[in-house]
Amino acid sequence: MRQIILHGGVGSSSDLSALLDKYASYSINYEDPLDAVVAAVKYMEDDLNFNAGTGSTMRLDGSIQMDAAVMIDGNFGSVINIEYVKNPVQVAREVMEGTPHVILCSDGATKFAREKGHPQYDPSTDKAKKRLEDARKVATKDPRFFYSSPLSVDTVGAVANFEGKIAAALSTGGSSPMMRGRVGDTPIPGSGIFVKDGFGIVATGIGEEIIRRQLSFALYCKKERLEDEWKIVAANSEFSLGVVGFNGQKPFVLANRSMAHGFATVE
Ligand code: GLY
Repeated sequence: MRQIILHGGVGSSSDLSALLDKYASYSINYEDPLDAVVAAVKYMEDDLNFNAGTGSTMRLDGSIQMDAAVMIDGNFGSVINIEYVKNPVQVAREVMEGTPHVILCSDGATKFAREKGHPQYDPSTDKAKKRLEDARKVATKDPRFFYSSPLSVDTVGAVANFEGKIAAALSTGGSSPMMRGRVGDTPIPGSGIFVKDGFGIVATGIGEEIIRRQLSFALYCKKERLEDEWKIVAANSEFSLGVVGFNGQKPFVLANRSMAHGFATVE
């Protein structure tokens, strides 16, 4: 059996779930789960409804720096603060498969993308510019702006389970308002993403809170009683958090706010 599950970020309207079902139904046609999750995340990176790739949130200085990651059992690749590329998730895959490393950041990640043939691409949109105006107002008023008024945390992610082989991918423009150089949970294994022993998970929410909890690894460690553990996490967080994935053959969608998600399966 092949199964894939997608999310559009915690806080995203469930009205977008039909669109994600469609992206899931396209992506499930690949033979390999890694191909499927990268394809699914690319659909979302190219869709202005989501904060990843085109449409990514701007940093307070007006720049766009994106994070993305892929993971399979025993391997991982991510890019941190990459700029001027269309599909950061594809670059993350190329880091995993085409370098001796697992993480590339900043100008090194962008330079690597060019070497791999990713052309210069500006992912900024009018929506991101409008969001930046709001972010600057919040940040000027309150030095703890990030926690008092998070404006957007809508990372996108996908996990596929094809005949027991699991792959995960996720991508984000980051949680706004944020400083240039800030890094969230998305490119950190065990925080925004984790795959091991028939378990695969991607997370969404304020990256700092996910990193402090090592959320994806913590839920893997408690996978025998995942739903109960999630209740404890949700009860102890005043911030928006969400996860999707597979616990063995069983898909899960857990969030403390609305979260668009999509699903497809082929016997
Ligand atoms: N969860 C995405 C971020 O905080 O960057």
